[in-house]
Parts: sequence; C-alpha cells; structure tokens
Amino acid sequence: MHNEATQKGVFQAEVLSNQQIRRCYYRLNMKFDARGSRLFQNVLPGQFLEMDLSAISLPDETQIPENLKDKASRQVMLRRPFSFSDVIITPTADGPCVKVEILYCVLGPATVRMMSLKKGDTINILGPLGNGFSIPDHLTHALLIAGGMGSPPILHLASHLKHHNPNVEVVSFIGARNIEDLPFTVRIGNFKGLVLEEFELIRVPSHIATDDGSAGFDGFVTDCMRHWLEDNKIDPKASAVFACGPEPMLAGTAKLAKDYDMPCQVSMERMMACGIGLCQSCAVETKKDDNHTEYQLCCKNGPVFDAEKVNFHAE
Ligand SMILES: Cc1cc2nc3c(=O)[nH]c(=O)nc-3n(C[C@H](O)[C@H](O)[C@H](O)COP(=O)(O)OP(=O)(O)OC[C@H]3O[C@@H](n4cnc5c(N)ncnc54)[C@H](O)[C@@H]3O)c2cc1C
Ligand code: FES
Repeated sequence: MHNEATQKGVFQAEVLSNQQIRRCYYRLNMKFDARGSRLFQNVLPGQFLEMDLSAISLPDETQIPENLKDKASRQVMLRRPFSFSDVIITPTADGPCVKVEILYCVLGPATVRMMSLKKGDTINILGPLGNGFSIPDHLTHALLIAGGMGSPPILHLASHLKHHNPNVEVVSFIGARNIEDLPFTVRIGNFKGLVLEEFELIRVPSHIATDDGSAGFDGFVTDCMRHWLEDNKIDPKASAVFACGPEPMLAGTAKLAKDYDMPCQVSMERMMACGIGLCQSCAVETKKDDNHTEYQLCCKNGPVFDAEKVNFHAE
C-alpha cells in the first residue's frame, strides 16, 4: 500500500492572497485542503505542482500588460507547472495544514489569468511532482544560485536548510537582467551593499547580480559567485552548489562548480504538458557512462539533476 505522504494527487487549494510585488511579478498564497496537505507534508524544495487555470477569467483589460494583449485571450488547455518560494506546514488535531507561496512572472495566457485570482477563490492542483533537491550528508557550505524566474525554489531551499540543517552555512547568489526582474525586495544591508529582504529575514546572506548593473554586481551571477569563491576558501568536499534558472546560467554554474571540484545540482526548466511522465514533452539529454546519451524526463526524473550528468544546450 502507498503512503499518501509520498504520492501525488489532485486536490483543491484556496487562495489566501495574490499581490503584485514588481512590474511583472506576483506573490500568490494558498492553503491546501486536507488531502493536499497530507500529500504535501514532506514536500522538498525543487518539487513542483501543476495548476489548472483553464476556468479562471481574464483580469480587466486595463490590467493586461500591453505586450500580452494579443495572446492573453488564448485558451489555457494544459495545466501549468510552478514551484514554491515557501511552504508552511502546521500540525493540527485533524492532520497537517499546508500553506504555500508561489512567486509568478506574468508571461502568457495562464499567468495573465492568475493576476485575477483573489482571496477565497479555489484552484485545482496536481502534485507534488518531481524529485526536488537532495541535501548531501556532512555538508558544511551550501551555495545557492538562481537566475530570474528560477529564484523561488532557491528561497524555499534556503529556508529548508536553515530549518533542517542549521549547521550548514548557506550563501545565496541571485541574478536577473535588471533590478525590475528580481522577484524580491532589494534593500541596503547593515554591513554591506544591497541585499534581498526575503533572504535577510531567514538570515541567509544574499549577493545580487544584474546583467545591466542596475543593482549589485554588474554582470552574470556566475561571475559574482566566482569572485566570492576566489575570496572565500571553503572545503569543496563538504560543499555543494544548488542552482535554478535559465539553461545558459545552469551550464555556467555547472562549469564553475567543476572548476572548484564541488558537486552541483541543477533544477532544469522545460515546457511541460502532462507533468507526470506520460507525454514525453519535457526531455533532458543526459550522459551515460559509456559516452552515450539518454533522454530523461524533467517532470519525473527531475527537475533536479546532477549537473555532471546533463548535456546542456546553452547558447
Ligand atoms: C518545474 C517548473 C517550475 C516552475 N516554477 C515557476 C515559478 O515558481 N514561477 C514562475 O513564474 N514560473 C515558473 N515556471 C514557469 C511557468 O510554468 C510558466 O511561466 C507558465 O507555464 C507560463 O504559462 P503562460 O500560459 O502564462 O505562458 P506561455 O504562453 O505558456 O509561455 C510564455 C513564454 O514563456 C516561456 N516559457 C513558459 N514556460 C516555460 C518553461 N517551463 N521553460 C522555459 N520557458 C518557458 C516560453 O518561451 C513562452 O513563449 C516553472 C516551470 C517549471 C517547468
Ligand atoms: S511533461 Fe509530460 S512527460 Fe514530462
């Protein structure tokens, strides 16, 4: 018999709040029903859910971003995948109660519809899906690196490590094209330059990098981490890198981790149709021992992969 805590399933979530935090970023908080709470009680950072947004109506015409006006009205047939920036599990007399936070970027017909979600609305959810990050034994340093839309599960991982592995020193590196594309609150830190409030709140140092230099390090987030590694000597055997973001950034991170002889896990992004290993639309090319390659499914075998095993297709 399967234990429900290790299974996935379909259930309802109630919207608690849905707030705009940046030009195209929103923060959605939801509470799961009893079944969803049981299914998610052992959820790992990097795992994700699929939301059915087909019945959600469009927001008012004036709220739809100009560049999305044409495609906003397209039918939303397939569920959409999202990871979490935070998961709160509260034990109650009736079992666990799970609340999750999703940071989403408005990009197309489904995420435009999400803008109109309000307190009390219900959404049909499938999850939890995928494997999530795994924390190696004897870890002393965890280097977390994210780019743009890949940042939410990295925040979740940061708070998970603080809670479950308090002896691990966690440092985060968050990159974006510019300050507006950072899905967090930038502010001046006490002892150094700009920091991200969401990481400050859980006492995880954050290093910001922007491609256009509008906040923090002027350049790629991988170069920011390389500088940090040059200045801070850490034991590579007791350290690990955890990454989520666009594929070129993941490829750069994998190379950097290899240069420093550190293990590295990357959370890959693929367009996903089913989310449960049926449609084969989310293939990731991986290396096999004998110089051959094989395709694995991002939704089922991933989204988190050992960086050494991935054949990146980065420009
Ligand atoms: C495991 C996983 C976790 C995710 N977590 C988050 C999250 O926490 N927050 C968030 O904002 N988004 C997340 N996404 C991406 C999110 O699923 C898409 O942005 C969403 O499906 C877009 O739907 P749409 O109809 O609004 O736009 P669409 O019209 O479907 O897409 C708009 C454009 O965005 C790009 N795009 C959409 N989905 C992907 C993808 N999976 N990979 C690469 N490019 C894509 C495409 O270029 C497309 O043209 C995640 C995706 C995956 C696979
Ligand atoms: S999304 Fe269908 S197999 Fe992965």
